Amino acid sequence: MTLANKKVVLGITGGIAAYKCPEIVRRLKDLQCDVRVVMTAGAKEFITPLTLQAVSGNPVSDSLLDPAAEASMGHIELAKWADLVVIAPASADVIAKINAGMANDLLTTICLATSAPIAIAPAMNQQMYAAKATQRNLACLEQMGMYIWGPASGEQACGDVGKGRLLEPMEIVERVTNHFAAPSLDLNILITAGPTREAIDPVRYISNHSSGKMGFAIAQAAKQLGANVTLIAGPVSLTTPNGVNRLDVVSASDMHKQAIIHAPTHDIFIACAAVADYRPAAISDQKIKKNDDDMVVSMIKNPDILADVSALEEQRPFCVGFAAETQDVETYARGKLQRKKLDMIAANNVSIAGQGFNSDSNALTLYWPQGKLDLPLADKQELAKQLVVEIIKHYNQAQ
Ligand code: PMT
Repeated sequence: MTLANKKVVLGITGGIAAYKCPEIVRRLKDLQCDVRVVMTAGAKEFITPLTLQAVSGNPVSDSLLDPAAEASMGHIELAKWADLVVIAPASADVIAKINAGMANDLLTTICLATSAPIAIAPAMNQQMYAAKATQRNLACLEQMGMYIWGPASGEQACGDVGKGRLLEPMEIVERVTNHFAAPSLDLNILITAGPTREAIDPVRYISNHSSGKMGFAIAQAAKQLGANVTLIAGPVSLTTPNGVNRLDVVSASDMHKQAIIHAPTHDIFIACAAVADYRPAAISDQKIKKNDDDMVVSMIKNPDILADVSALEEQRPFCVGFAAETQDVETYARGKLQRKKLDMIAANNVSIAGQGFNSDSNALTLYWPQGKLDLPLADKQELAKQLVVEIIKHYNQAQ
């Protein structure tokens, strides 16, 4: 594998692990990768720019406000130049700043200004790594579509033992190589995610507990595997994964409209949204007053988005449904597979604590007409990767 014509910005932050950076640069250069180093003020306390300049063969950038540096390759130019930004070692501080969207130095500014994928290789004291704030920040960065590489476990410079060591240089180089080796799928994947809201009056609605985490994780996994992804999202407060085309909707009818418009131009449709089966028959123009002791809301059935996409006579995508069940999972899931004429269905038992609605983990069983496969409990990001790989395998077999 060569990295000829690949352009990597290596961001170095302040930490003892910065001593590994010249080796990372040298190994990338061995593969003919073009590397430009950006250092924070903290990084320069651990290693000199001169060393990095010598090994990379390029000037090192370290200031946002240096007219001379801006005159050669300015920060926006550098952000545009990169095919990949790798931050190694990434301190707890820079991780927090990137998550907050700050741009008060060259490295964080590049992170905001680049459209290239960003890989974060954390390195810090094990207690700092385990801290809730760091874990939350890393989870948010992953949700935004950034790669989190490591950290490794072991003895630390401060004498502690635990998770927080920077990956070894060759492991980082291998991840860079794998990133560029990942095939572009040339597949268009349409995904629905989150709940829908069905209005009763201007201030009230009927909805459910879907957070959108499962569907957004699927969108991110599909994108990272190289697909073009369109995500039709119900009302959720999640960040759009990098490179995913997001369409926001509120009600089942809105979601239905978008799905029917976009399905014919997509190869695969994955219906992960928890769509309200019914909606109020009429939406009151004014806030309903509580004049009576009881209130009856008459409901009518919503269109079945998945069934309608699956019934498309022309340009029908490969259709994958979800089944949220609390009992007789296989019977009900297979019933939906047949009734909606699907290619595959992913069933989750949402009565088990710690999985299904609004949790960070889930477990799925995939059913298709001739078989089934268990995907055991895992965090939704990991599970989504396994799911998308299986779906693509079945899609390819069906072609
Ligand atoms: O969002 P999270 O908090 O991460 O939770 C994830 C999840 C539990 C919502 C997800 O894993 C899941 O199970 N999604 C499907 C929920 C659901 O509505 O299942 P269902 O069994 O009621 O519907 C069957 C299938 O038909 C689903 O693919 C659904 O998207 C689709 N459907 C249902 C009704 C309707 N009117 N239109 C549809 O397209």
